[in-house]
Amino acid sequence: MSLSRRGLFSLSGGIVSAVGLTACGIALSSPGGSTGALLPSRLPLPSPFATELPRLTPLRPDRDGRAAITVRRKAIEILPGRTTEIAGYDGLFPGPTIEATKGEPLHLSLRNELDVPVVNHLHGGVTPAEHDGYPTDLVQPWHARDYHYPLDQRAATLWYHDHAMDLTGPNVYAGMAGAFVLRDPAEDDLGLPGGERELTLVITDRSFGEDAELVYPVSEGVIEYRYHGGVLGDVMLVNGAPWPYLDVDAARYRLRILNACNARRLELAFDGGSGQTTEIAQVGTDQGLLTRPHRRSALTLAPAERADVVVDFAQHAVGSQVTLVNRLGDEAMGQVMRFDVARRAKDDSRVPERLSTIERIDPASVVTTRDFRLSLGATGGSSGHASHADAQGRSLAMWAVNGRPYEPGVDIARPRLGTVERWRFTTDVHHPVHAHLVHFQVEQDGAPAWKDTIDVGPTSRAEVLVPIEGYRGRYVLHCHNLEHEDRMMMADFSVV
Ligand code: C2O
Ligand code: CU
Repeated sequence: MSLSRRGLFSLSGGIVSAVGLTACGIALSSPGGSTGALLPSRLPLPSPFATELPRLTPLRPDRDGRAAITVRRKAIEILPGRTTEIAGYDGLFPGPTIEATKGEPLHLSLRNELDVPVVNHLHGGVTPAEHDGYPTDLVQPWHARDYHYPLDQRAATLWYHDHAMDLTGPNVYAGMAGAFVLRDPAEDDLGLPGGERELTLVITDRSFGEDAELVYPVSEGVIEYRYHGGVLGDVMLVNGAPWPYLDVDAARYRLRILNACNARRLELAFDGGSGQTTEIAQVGTDQGLLTRPHRRSALTLAPAERADVVVDFAQHAVGSQVTLVNRLGDEAMGQVMRFDVARRAKDDSRVPERLSTIERIDPASVVTTRDFRLSLGATGGSSGHASHADAQGRSLAMWAVNGRPYEPGVDIARPRLGTVERWRFTTDVHHPVHAHLVHFQVEQDGAPAWKDTIDVGPTSRAEVLVPIEGYRGRYVLHCHNLEHEDRMMMADFSVV
């Protein structure tokens, strides 16, 4: 048993195998395979499949490539008949879906009308460091700034969200997240479903108080110890609506699915009733199209991961109900939304066997191999302690990379621009690992694929090849369980 494992046990005073631990423990895993603790809502949960799936509001840059967003509070209807105040982009939750084109730079002006500082990060973007949303690069209340995104990269389903130091979890939870669809006109000829039959699904879990306001377990700026492993909501929202439904044609749909939950992992499948599973053709990952479709019956998405899939609802008779289920969730959280196959329809779309070209990196080109260990705080040595206390004596877990809690300005690595590296990650519990700027080449179903976030399981090791491309400067790599990130599971690296 590793040192970090012992650290976990001593922290919680016992084997951690389920949510609902001793009061002083951090929930490090739940039966559903997420790291974290369930935060129960204090009102009756809405009935599933009663709200129509909201269309996300598109935001398209003008002819000069400019777009503007204001971060503000707004009372909106999330639960039927109730109002919830969010803090989000243009007062929307999720924020507007930015639609941009590969190779056409975007100038995004972000105005902060909140009383707290914010930071904008384009997740998956190849962005110069000064525009990347470094955690201390704050936009102060009632200030604005321009972010320049060159977007000289593969077309992909990206997303943007807040990245403020120590506050990313509560800020994203309050509403600061939106999809960003980067398109490449060259992909139009593939014949994948488009128009009304291309949907972006932003999945988030949230919990609500009696007053229907969002609850997040933070007091005086410090998240409650019990939730240091992650905050799991008990209401599943898709595009901001609880367990919505959508009438669909008996035809192919392209679904760009984003897991924007703070900590919840999802294993998604389409259940057509009476045990009939629906084939999913995965056409893309975090960083764009695969080389060929990967056909599967289920799909795992850790926080921040995206999948681009095509589902043919003609596999089901008109009148059937196809539930998007989450096999890692209990009871209500085992369901996500429902597609009601409403009508027969003409379908000219297709899923070609050749989708894109990805050149496999030759492992012999690797110049440096780096190891990153993601684990709870123990600093190594025989007496490594796993928690600290703040000035009020409250316990604070420190999640760490290579034993060090995050310290801005201290580089864990200095890779050289234009080289290829191998990065290896080892874990204690589940950690979705994400790096800014660079992308990871992985093998998926026997083919190379591009990712920016990988789901590394408990006590596992994962290895990726990383071309160091883009820009020189300082970036971060971190765990995308946002409670881990805020509790220091982050490190700087500088491209030199
Ligand atoms: Cu999705 Cu550092 O972020
Ligand atoms: Cu983590």
